[in-house]
Amino acid sequence: MKNAKKTSVKSYSQCIEISKRVRWDIDRDVFRGRSFESDRKFLPDGITFIDTFDFLEPREKVFLSQIQGRTYANMFGFVERFITAKILEQTKDFWLGDQIALEALVRFCDEEIKHQLLFRRIESMLQQTMPANYKFHPDPNQVAVAVLSKSSWAVLAVILEIELFTQEHYKASIEHDPELSELYKDIFLFHWKEETTHAIMDELEWPRVDASLISEERDEAVGEVIEIISDFDSILKQQSNSDIDYFLAHSTRHFNQDKVNHLVKESHDTLPVSKRFPQG
Ligand SMILES: [Fe+2]
Ligand SMILES: [Fe+2]
Repeated sequence: MKNAKKTSVKSYSQCIEISKRVRWDIDRDVFRGRSFESDRKFLPDGITFIDTFDFLEPREKVFLSQIQGRTYANMFGFVERFITAKILEQTKDFWLGDQIALEALVRFCDEEIKHQLLFRRIESMLQQTMPANYKFHPDPNQVAVAVLSKSSWAVLAVILEIELFTQEHYKASIEHDPELSELYKDIFLFHWKEETTHAIMDELEWPRVDASLISEERDEAVGEVIEIISDFDSILKQQSNSDIDYFLAHSTRHFNQDKVNHLVKESHDTLPVSKRFPQG
């Protein structure tokens, strides 16, 4: 037990060190007065699989990747609402105790609040330059109320998974794609920099909660994880249908039903939750 405590204090202090080193500012470091390049893709082919849509023209592939990239950015805005609230709740255990853990978790929350602001800025910039009538449907507060009604064990499990795939998407697909908008790529580079410590802290907090449960409570929490993921899947299917409607509404040509079905299916598979978690 003594060793476990030492390791965790060290990890929290390492997270503080990294957080101080990589800290960035939305305007000074990320935007630097730049706008999104209208002729470049946003979300990479490694996530969208747009390269398999051989019936689309290059400009249509760019437009579809921009729509999916806009939704991808908005999705972080909505999950970060409940992530911040849950991590803030976790800090309560350290208010009058381990001040290093407290600082690390407070920085985590501060970073996620900044990320939400970043993603809202992206949406308002794209409202000015992309065609009208795009809609992002999920309400961050409503989703947060539903997620936070579940046990801490379940919510922390989902948060850890999100933090892990955020990093994986950047390293595996975004970082090395030469066709992407430089600004879009930079947004996820800076986001990734601050996300690297979040998964470490999730891996400290989740076992801490786990240690307080009896096995029946843990079994129930596993069921709650499945419920949260199924709810996300429904929300994201609705959003991907809306994205395809938006794409078709602004297309200059007609697509037959087979092609529309292909677009809808691939769009469902693209969204991170659908891609990451097996569906029942
Ligand atoms: Fe974030
Ligand atoms: Fe995060």
